[in-house]
Amino acid sequence: MTNEEIFEKKIQDDVRIEPKDWMPEAYRKTLIRQISQHAHSEVVGMLPEANWITRAPTLRRKATLLAKVQDEAGHGLYLYSAMETLGMPRAQAIDDLLSGKAKYSSIFNYPTLSWADMGTIGWLVDGAAILNQVPLCRTSYGPYARAMVRVCKEESFHQRQGFEIMQSLSQGSAEQKAMAQDAINRWWWPTLMMFGPRDAESGNTELSMKWRIKRFTNDELRQKFVDMMVPQAQHLGLSIPDPRLKWNEEKKGYDFGDVDWNEFWKVVKGQGPCNKQRLEARNKAHDQGAWVREAAAAYAEKRAKRAQLGASA
Ligand SMILES: [Fe+2]
Ligand SMILES: [Fe+2]
Repeated sequence: MTNEEIFEKKIQDDVRIEPKDWMPEAYRKTLIRQISQHAHSEVVGMLPEANWITRAPTLRRKATLLAKVQDEAGHGLYLYSAMETLGMPRAQAIDDLLSGKAKYSSIFNYPTLSWADMGTIGWLVDGAAILNQVPLCRTSYGPYARAMVRVCKEESFHQRQGFEIMQSLSQGSAEQKAMAQDAINRWWWPTLMMFGPRDAESGNTELSMKWRIKRFTNDELRQKFVDMMVPQAQHLGLSIPDPRLKWNEEKKGYDFGDVDWNEFWKVVKGQGPCNKQRLEARNKAHDQGAWVREAAAAYAEKRAKRAQLGASA
């Protein structure tokens, strides 16, 4: 069998592809792009919520939000490690993020204006992340699939913390309920954009499905998300800002309105409300952390020298 045939057979048999296995260059490139974008999204995703850590209403809320934001840093680390197994150096991926060349999820370019945004992000944004990520636990590339198992466990905690905030607000004063509704109004459509362009316009979907990197298309996941969230919003007594939202008995799912794709592409291309701010924050953090990287490198060098001396003595 040729390398190509062995690879195809593994994909067909649902055997994971591992770092040292032969793989087509396009498979490697697709994965590097997807995993690095995913890692960048985790890291940039810390910014909108970190904005509220100092203003959390209680100690318990503060501790929970802090833990959640730290989890996202961890997700970034597992994913950068998985990406490195494909031969992409982490420093290069980070440079691409900092220069604006690499993409990350468009959702993190929206501002967090009230405490209710912390609830809405956990509930809707982490909810969408879970739908995107649970199938990735079975993705064909081994290190990515294994990283996702732990990520998904933590994501379900994130979603619950968000839902709990929404529950408190929706059962609170009229002002709190209005704050929760305002947050849903602002986040609903950007969250639907998280599943990516429509299948017909998604250039990467077909190959990714064939290689079992993806298990569901963007439109399939978007539909599942709407079907999952409508009953939860009803339970909260909050409404979804879509006049076209309607149960369709035939397809046993909801019909819903069109995402504003112009807005989506604008944000992806760097003209969202916070793109500039996010990149500036990441660049500043990177510059301020230079001494940590230098110290770690110096320490590693010292240890390596000592080990060498020990070996030759
Ligand atoms: Fe995450
Ligand atoms: Fe999360």
